[in-house]
Amino acid sequence: MLLRIRRASKTYSGIPALIDADLDLLGGEVHALMGENGAGKSTLIKILAGITAPDSAAIEIHGQTVTLSSPHSAHSHGLRFIHQELQVVRHLSASENIFLGQAYPTRFGFQVRWKQLHQQAEQVLARLGIEHIDPRRTMGHLSPGDQMLVNIAHAFVGDDLEHARALIYVMDEPTAALSEAETAQLFRVIGRLRERGSAVLYVSHRMDEIFTIADRVTVMRDGRVIDTLPISTITPPELIEKMTGRDLQHIYPARTEAPSDQVRLDARGLFTAVVHGATFTVRVGEVVGVAGLNGSGRTELLRAVMGLDRLTAGELWLDAKRLKGHSPSTAWLEGIAYVPEERRSQGLVLSRSVGDNLTLPQLASLSIGGWMLAHGRERQTSQNMGAQVRLKARSPAQTVRELSGGNQQKVVFGRALVQPPRLLLLDEPTRGVDVGAKVDLYQLIREISGHGTGILLVSSDLPELIGMTDRILIMRGGQLAETVSSEGLTSERLLALCYGNMDHVGSKDR
Ligand SMILES: Nc1ncnc2c1ncn2[C@@H]1O[C@H](COP(=O)(O)OP(=O)(O)OP(=O)(O)O)[C@@H](O)[C@H]1O
Ligand SMILES: [Mg+2]
Repeated sequence: MLLRIRRASKTYSGIPALIDADLDLLGGEVHALMGENGAGKSTLIKILAGITAPDSAAIEIHGQTVTLSSPHSAHSHGLRFIHQELQVVRHLSASENIFLGQAYPTRFGFQVRWKQLHQQAEQVLARLGIEHIDPRRTMGHLSPGDQMLVNIAHAFVGDDLEHARALIYVMDEPTAALSEAETAQLFRVIGRLRERGSAVLYVSHRMDEIFTIADRVTVMRDGRVIDTLPISTITPPELIEKMTGRDLQHIYPARTEAPSDQVRLDARGLFTAVVHGATFTVRVGEVVGVAGLNGSGRTELLRAVMGLDRLTAGELWLDAKRLKGHSPSTAWLEGIAYVPEERRSQGLVLSRSVGDNLTLPQLASLSIGGWMLAHGRERQTSQNMGAQVRLKARSPAQTVRELSGGNQQKVVFGRALVQPPRLLLLDEPTRGVDVGAKVDLYQLIREISGHGTGILLVSSDLPELIGMTDRILIMRGGQLAETVSSEGLTSERLLALCYGNMDHVGSKDR
C-alpha cells in the first residue's frame, strides 16, 4: 500500500468540511474520488498537499507514519499534485511556471541559465506529448487549456516517467479545461504511471472519464467517505445515486415543446480577429450547440455575439432588430446574458459575497427604488437564485472565495438568470459541476428555453451537447464549417466532425 489515510477531519468556522475520512491508495491503481460539489474532495487533497492543516488525521506513506506540514514535505514524501484551480504566475514564462518552487539551472550558483531552463521545460512537455506550447511564452498569453497543460507539466518535473520510484499523483479535475485530444494524451500518461506502480488519485465530475481510467472509486458525500469499491462492480446510474442520494436515470431531460419558427438571433457573416465567417440563427426556445476543438473559435463566437470582441464585418440581429454599436453593456440591456468560460477571472469577484455576485449586473436596476428596497429585493433575488441552482453556501453573505469550485460556477450561472434573458450564451457552463447539479442546470436550461429564451451552448462534453441541443454548429479553425442536427448524432461522429473528417453522415439543415 502506498498511502493510507485514517480519520481525516477538518472544520471551517465550526462547519465540518471533512469528517473521519479513510482512504487507501494501492501501487498501480487509478483511484477515482467522486462526490458532489462541496463534498470535501479538495479539502482532503489539500491536507495531503500540506496546504491545509487537518484538525486530525493519521497518514502513512509506504507504511511509515508521516506529517505533511508543508508543500515541501508532501513533495519529499513522493506526492505530486495537480490542483483544481490553476496555480500559475501569469507574468512569468511557461518554463518558469513549470519549474516554479524548484531550483532553476544556474551558472556559478546565481545566474539562471535560461536556455537550459527552456530546454528542460521543453523536455518535460515532450514527455507528456505536448509539443505545441513554446515554453518561452508568457503564461498569461496562453489559452486556459494550455495553462492547464503547463500546470500539469509542473507535477512531472524531475520525474522521467519510466524509471523513478513509485510516486503518488493527485489530480483534482485536471481535464476540466482540456480538449478531448489533450485528455486522451493525459490518460496515456496516467496509463504509464500505473504500469510502473505509481498510484493516481483522480478527481473528476465526468462519468465517462471515471469509467475509462479508474480501477477503484471512493465516493464522498457531505464530508464523509460513503464507500470504496472496484469500478467494475458498479454502473454509472448506481454511482450517481451513491453520490447524490437521488435516482437520476435521465441525465438530459427531454424538451417539453418544440422550438418556435421565430428567429431570435440572426448572425450574418460574422468576422472578428479570430472568427473567420459565421452565419447562423438561433430560434425562440431553441438550444443551439457549438462544438469544435480547443482554439477553433467557439469561445470567440460567443464573445462576438456578446459584444466583447469587435466585429470587423457582419451583422447581428436580435428579434429582427439590428444591434448597432454593440458592447457588453448594451448586450445585457438587450437581454443577452453570458456565462463565461473562465469563471474565476471573468465571471466572479472572489472577494465579494455570493449575494453581490449574483446581482452584480443588475445592481443598477435594483437600486432604482431606493437603497432599502433594493437591499431587500437583492437579498430576495439571491436567495431565490441560489435555491434554483442548488447553491451550497452558508448564506448570501459568504464570500465566493470560500465556496467549492463547482459552487462558484453555479453562482455565475445563477447570475445570468436573475432576469430571464432573451438570449443566453453559455460557455462550458457545467465544467467542474457535479452530476447532481448538472442535472439541475439541465432542467433549468429546459425551463428557460421553454419560456422562449434562445440558447447558444459551447461545451467540450459531447454527450451533453448532443443531449441538450437541437442543432450543433461545428467550428473549425475560426470558421463555422457546418451545422448538424443533434438527433441521432453520436459522440464519435461529432468528434470526427470537429476534426473535419469527411467520412461523416451528418445531416445539414440550417
Ligand atoms: N477556506 C475555506 N473556508 C471556509 N469554508 C471552506 C474553505 N474551503 C472549503 N470550504 C468548505 O468546505 C466544504 C468542502 O469543500 P471542498 O472544496 O473540499 O469541496 P469539493 O468536494 O472539492 O467540491 P468541488 O467538486 O466543487 O470542487 C465546502 O462546503 C466548502 O465551502
Ligand atoms: Mg474541489
